[in-house]
Amino acid sequence: MCGIVGYIGPKKALPILMNSLGRLEYRGYDSSGIAVLANGVPESVLTVVKEKGKLSRLRDKLQRQELNGFAGIGHTRWATHGEPSERNAHPHLDCTRKIALVHNGIIENYAELKSRLSAKGHRFQSDTDTEVAVHLVEHHCAEGLKSGKKDGVLGAFQKAVSEMEGFFAFVLLSVYEPGAIYVFKRSNPLVIGIGDGENFVASDAPAVLSYTNRMIYLDDNEFARVTAKAVEVRRADTLALVRKAVTRISWTISQAEKAGFPHFMLKEIHEQPQVVETILKEKLRAGKIWFDSIDQRVESRLKKIEKIHLVSCGTAYHAGLVANYMIGECARLPVEATVSSEFRYEDPIVGPKDLVILITQSGETADTLAALREAKLKGAFTLGIVNVVGSTIARESDCVIYTHAGPEIGVASTKAYLAQLLTLALFSIYIGKVRGQLSPGQMREYIRWLQKLPGQVRETLAQQSRIKQCARLLFEKKNFLYLGRGFNFPTALEGALKLKEITYSHAHGYPAGEMKHGPIALIDSNQPVICLSPASKTYDKMVSNIQEIRARQGIIVSVATRGDAEMEKISRATFFIPRTLEIFSPILTVIPLQLFAYFVAVLNKRDVDQPRNLAKSVTVE
Ligand code: M6R
Repeated sequence: MCGIVGYIGPKKALPILMNSLGRLEYRGYDSSGIAVLANGVPESVLTVVKEKGKLSRLRDKLQRQELNGFAGIGHTRWATHGEPSERNAHPHLDCTRKIALVHNGIIENYAELKSRLSAKGHRFQSDTDTEVAVHLVEHHCAEGLKSGKKDGVLGAFQKAVSEMEGFFAFVLLSVYEPGAIYVFKRSNPLVIGIGDGENFVASDAPAVLSYTNRMIYLDDNEFARVTAKAVEVRRADTLALVRKAVTRISWTISQAEKAGFPHFMLKEIHEQPQVVETILKEKLRAGKIWFDSIDQRVESRLKKIEKIHLVSCGTAYHAGLVANYMIGECARLPVEATVSSEFRYEDPIVGPKDLVILITQSGETADTLAALREAKLKGAFTLGIVNVVGSTIARESDCVIYTHAGPEIGVASTKAYLAQLLTLALFSIYIGKVRGQLSPGQMREYIRWLQKLPGQVRETLAQQSRIKQCARLLFEKKNFLYLGRGFNFPTALEGALKLKEITYSHAHGYPAGEMKHGPIALIDSNQPVICLSPASKTYDKMVSNIQEIRARQGIIVSVATRGDAEMEKISRATFFIPRTLEIFSPILTVIPLQLFAYFVAVLNKRDVDQPRNLAKSVTVE
């Protein structure tokens, strides 16, 4: 969940580290720090500066110092072990202040290692698990020197890593080898940006995209020695050299900037028409649905599948729930949507006749990655629906379909969710066709409505001021209920999640038909109820639910299909979506809910892009 960076080259490291950290702050923002190495005689010197709170506080602190080194590492933290504080912020140093290290992940056996190292005389300054790693490297460096072995920093680092359990990405800098940064990856992401006479290290590519778009993605259990001119990747066990491909990233840095919007979240909500256009351009060609990654071999495997599992977390789980309905309609196959943290531990009943679809924006979510590995162990065919190109889940899945949402920086997922929904809709239609469930006429009808979506997303966004007005009416309420049925029951869950993530108000999503079995007790004249009521098979049932809420004076806000005068009459406020097929309606109905959550958060002066306690990429369990 933390963000880590490194730089080595001919330029001053500090501005590069701070700029890169700024692009990673969404991964963690409770404290931050940097270490810069200044070459000197008789020896180089490591300077570490850390601060509690957001990166801006570290930036202010650094204005009072001059750091001229050409190699450095940096970190922005989301606390796991030890409260957010300057003392617990990374980088951590060994006893002699000759080695500095930053870490993303958890060292599960840190307590045992810490007591062993303490017994040997190591002095610890923090409550973190991470500090153990740097002392362990120090210990092995000293042992190596004592025994006269010449395996240097890499050898010591290798020994240290072999003693640690858990999952981690490490970046290490030391005075012993001032011309090199060492990195290691197990489970958590690390990418090396290749420059001209300079190289970069980061948790993800957008962090260094303003310097280079050429990346090497490390695989699990790989070390890299990064100097200004070269990158050497080695296997953790034998230290044998590994040849790595260099991937060119097509995202541009402007996509990762705010472009005049006050928040990334609002910018990303408004990028949705473009995202829909891109996906359709990519996957809808000559009236047919294409996935470049699905070849004959994959297609023949998909024909034999007997059950589909949709496995994901948070917002991506809601996309999985929508896909449950989509695949049901198009392919008439048994489908089950499960959260990854349940799937991975429930000894899931899957085998070679199952397709397990992992849905993830980051491609790094720890629970989803573990679920993928579990499914593969059991022989299932795995398909990643992933946004971040080259991420671990994308690389480890048997087949990957990218969602092309571009970089999503706001912690609350918006455009990535829409991209997941559309990609899953296309996949559902595709699988329905492949399995002979859809006639050419039905295919044509779906495609006709799909092509209208970019314009319809724009039309829905055009109601922004109406939605803002409604937010003004309700922003002080502390409890919200969201109701929906069928395809839009997951939309109710997603609307509620968005609201609670960024406003810190309580919000609960519920299937509308269940209201009378309990939640109706909440309804009084103070209770806002957001009702997902577009044209659908269950529209009349939603109207009855709304009447029940009205009878108890609840405050009704509805999302309805344009032209629905009845809904407007019975609601305090109504947001409209253009007419579409029910299967595509979740792609539109969620948009007013994203904007509503955004404006409620802004009116409550919340930190929209970096809400408290959250991180964009959840790489710990
Ligand atoms: O990167 P992933 O899609 O795997 O992330 C899953 C969830 O952590 C994520 O959707 C989270 O719920 C977001 N904060 C939602 O806005």
